[in-house]
Amino acid sequence: MAKKYLITSALPYINGELHIGHLVGCWLPSDVYARFCRAMGRDVLYIGGADEHGTPAMVGAWKENMPVLEYTNKYYEKHLRAVSDFNLSFDLYGRTHTELQEKLIHDLFKRLEERGLIEERETVQPFSVDDDMFLADRQLEGTCPKCGYEKARGDQCDNCSATYEADELINPRSAISGSTNIEMRKTKNLFFMASKIEGDWRKWLLQHAPKWSKTASAIAMGWANEGLHDTSITRDLKWGIPVNKPGYENKVFYVWFDAPWGYVSISQAATKDWESWWKNPDCFYAQFMGKDNVKFHSVFFPEQQLAMNDNWKTVDLLKAVNFLNFEGGKVAKSTGNGIFLDNALNIAPSDCWRYALMASAPETDDTDFTMARFIDIVNKDLNGLLGNFVSRVCKLSAKNFGEIVPNGTEIDSELANKINEKIEELTNAMEKCEFRKSIVALREIYGLANEYMTIKEPWALVKNGDLNGAGAVLNECFQLIDLFARVSSPFVPDAVAKIQNIFANEHDLSWPTKYEHRISNGEGFTVPENLFNRLELSQDE
Ligand code: 2FM
Ligand code: ZN
Repeated sequence: MAKKYLITSALPYINGELHIGHLVGCWLPSDVYARFCRAMGRDVLYIGGADEHGTPAMVGAWKENMPVLEYTNKYYEKHLRAVSDFNLSFDLYGRTHTELQEKLIHDLFKRLEERGLIEERETVQPFSVDDDMFLADRQLEGTCPKCGYEKARGDQCDNCSATYEADELINPRSAISGSTNIEMRKTKNLFFMASKIEGDWRKWLLQHAPKWSKTASAIAMGWANEGLHDTSITRDLKWGIPVNKPGYENKVFYVWFDAPWGYVSISQAATKDWESWWKNPDCFYAQFMGKDNVKFHSVFFPEQQLAMNDNWKTVDLLKAVNFLNFEGGKVAKSTGNGIFLDNALNIAPSDCWRYALMASAPETDDTDFTMARFIDIVNKDLNGLLGNFVSRVCKLSAKNFGEIVPNGTEIDSELANKINEKIEELTNAMEKCEFRKSIVALREIYGLANEYMTIKEPWALVKNGDLNGAGAVLNECFQLIDLFARVSSPFVPDAVAKIQNIFANEHDLSWPTKYEHRISNGEGFTVPENLFNRLELSQDE
């Protein structure tokens, strides 16, 4: 039986517009990995979705002056559109405002309560007198108690990634009205007593985190030195999962208490068989996210999973990426800086974004992405090395031999050795989810094929009357085109579908362990349209 792979992409908040940061941060790395795993013959469950709860949706709805549910419905449609536009192969792209999610969270809460891990505490929370409401998380802004950043949120600092309780924030103000007329008022909330499972969690972390991506591992290991703090898991808000405990009718669960469990409830919606991934110790679980999400996936979520003592599958490979800046600045709709997904396809087709963003993935450091870099990658790699090769081989063959693959001979062993080395590099990098390295190896495979054709000069052989020799070289080139399709499929699925259409017969996209001849002598083919067009830097870029 094929090994089970569970793959989850962070669930982006439903507010605001999606941009290339979302693609590069979680959607593309997870999709590329899921496609790779399927090509390896693994039994994949690949889950994503929208995080609908918490204050981001409330603040967004308030700004657009619409009921929260109407607002989340509107933006969920935009998410679905982007998922389809960028060919993200989720088994299900779900959402968290569902009955399944509510039931799951209610059961989870009961379980923690039964295990003596929930405590009621009276705390003081910021209350905005002018807005006449308690302010939670993003409804509140102020100065970070850890690093002094002045635009920190009520629960989390975007600058230093610290998390804290709202009453620790310095100079608090309402994100809704801007009012600084904030009073600290008493309210009751429920706390998850994380400190009680600190020992189990630390043991788990030390076993697992060293195997994660460098960024994720470095962030998570930082938390290992700190004690686990009991965290408040309820909020005085009207939007979210209602708290299933008498006396808490006007409160909901904290968004980070419910969001990661969205992976489970969306899996439940995707397949009846969800437990064969989530409760299976032999399953391999890979999570993908931006670095600001690492704490929640290396501390909050696993500590709850472990606290349940119900054999929940915890993460084996946590892949986190740093931030992607655009043209030297942070991506933000407010400043107009960045590429937003509803506009990206007006600039270039989805494959170009998929490839160029993975080639620029901010895996080791924050990275600056520019239009010039984007165009350069597309023109050199996709148009130059991949598209032109396919086109030249097909055209030259059709002209001299008709639309059938000319007869070949034995595999060229010198070429095969070089290519096999690169396949191994590529496969190793893909296994480790090191996408920049993967693209380097992929580009080298394209390069070797081009070099082979340049050196063998099939056009010169034709000219000199050596048709057998020319045919054999072109046959080898068709085999290379077939290889291109297999190794490129996680990155550029649209182009790969076009390559597959070139051949009269169907050739599967199984991941190759080595370069091999799979295309028969005399197989029909058609000359395709250009796979990629050259991009030009327009005046206003
Ligand atoms: O940072 C975010 O956009 C969060 N909504 C990510 C949640 S990931 C998962 F836990 F749901
Ligand atoms: Zn900070």
